[in-house]
Amino acid sequence: MKNITIDTITEAVINHGESSKTHPRLYEIYTSLIQHLHGFVREVNLTEQELQCGRNFINRASHHTQEIPAGEIHMLTDLLGISELVELLHDTNNSTECNLEGPLYVPNAPKRHMGDRLGIDAGGDILWLSGCVLDLNDRPIANAMIDVWQANSQGLYDIQDPSQPDGNFRGCFQTDADGKYAFETVVPMGYNVPASGPSGELLRLLGRHTWRAAHIHFKLSALGYAPLTTQIFIDGDRHIDSDTTFAVRSAIVELQKHQVSDRGKPVYTTEFNFVLQPIEQSIESDIYSLSQ
Ligand SMILES: [Fe+2]
Repeated sequence: MKNITIDTITEAVINHGESSKTHPRLYEIYTSLIQHLHGFVREVNLTEQELQCGRNFINRASHHTQEIPAGEIHMLTDLLGISELVELLHDTNNSTECNLEGPLYVPNAPKRHMGDRLGIDAGGDILWLSGCVLDLNDRPIANAMIDVWQANSQGLYDIQDPSQPDGNFRGCFQTDADGKYAFETVVPMGYNVPASGPSGELLRLLGRHTWRAAHIHFKLSALGYAPLTTQIFIDGDRHIDSDTTFAVRSAIVELQKHQVSDRGKPVYTTEFNFVLQPIEQSIESDIYSLSQ
């Protein structure tokens, strides 16, 4: 291949190799990515200096930190709306909306029982959260697993806050024979996403804030049903209309304020029912081998 020009370089890159035959899905994604990337470079008339700036940005964002165990690239896809767009593309209208896992999930959360406290937080307002896990016909799903994680009343997860014990405000619950679940927690506070790295610098340059609206994360699984990762948001949070990951959709709960507890603080309750859809044949993609 020679005599490459500005008019032929994109096709040359796309046609370089045999992946169209060996890895058709990877080739489809690769082709579109190259077309869009080259189109972007042309559209903004990218300079060599700006390209180097972009390389440096991605290199810096690739370094894992304790602050974001899943890595800053994960957070960056959330901040750019890419993660939520993927969720929206593959969501169905029948089951509970799927939503971002976020970079602060930790597997193997402590096993907890119906009515247990999710964590310790002396300063937080108590919240009783309960509901059912249902199928598409409103029938309860018994023995569904619900993996919950949230920030405390200061907007901090256990892995970000040495003062919290490991597994604080994380837990795995199982629904009872009627598909019910219930646990005690505290009203979570919205928080700023970790912003000390290049993603934070980008947001500051763009004049964007770093706040997430208050939310609780869930992963649900049950035999015969598609796994669901989602979040519910607390109505009235000051960033409910401007969450920096664009994740606020319709799963918003209103808190009911109740009697003052013996600690002199209000107690809140709310309910949320999850709806799972039957499992379908998963689509194997040849691109998965890239992440091994
Ligand atoms: Fe979160």
